[in-house]
Amino acid sequence: MSRQNIILIGPMGSGKSTIGKMLAKKLNRDFMDSDHFIERRTGVDIARIFDIEGETGFRDRESKALKTLLDQNNRVVATGGGSVLRSENRALLKSMGYIIFLDTSVNQQLQRLRRDKKRPLLQTENPRERLENLFDERRPIYLDLADLAVKTDRKLARKLASDIINRLPEYLL
Ligand code: S3P
Repeated sequence: MSRQNIILIGPMGSGKSTIGKMLAKKLNRDFMDSDHFIERRTGVDIARIFDIEGETGFRDRESKALKTLLDQNNRVVATGGGSVLRSENRALLKSMGYIIFLDTSVNQQLQRLRRDKKRPLLQTENPRERLENLFDERRPIYLDLADLAVKTDRKLARKLASDIINRLPEYLL
């Protein structure tokens, strides 16, 4: 069975790692986070990879990381917000897992990422404008890919995780 993974997609600050860890715990699965995996493999943080290799270099590493992480079954995998940009990645996600989209407003993202220094795409004069542009560009892609889309605004992580579990198809439980 190849589609047994649970894959979280959504923008920066949507809670993919937090919710992913909770789902993994409740479902007794391993949790893997694509950005952390890349940082562990390379020994440097994402910002440094963007500095040295540019966004294209980072995206190449991201595609490779996703292939490795999704090569196993029964995981919960949190992806980076931009991982859905490449059609190659989209095909992989689709074929290797059940995809959950954490649908988060730009206001909520800004609240969560106010002090963020780790995300290269947000180190700009106007993070709101950047997030709005990414939202317009990427939300249709997230929606199209998703097996399940959940609104996250004003919801506690714990409640969100249990709502998601209640909505998962039987074969994933
Ligand atoms: C990115 C999202 C980040 C990280 C990188 C680029 C994006 O991951 O992969 O900074 O393009 O949206 P998170 O979604 O986990 O913040």
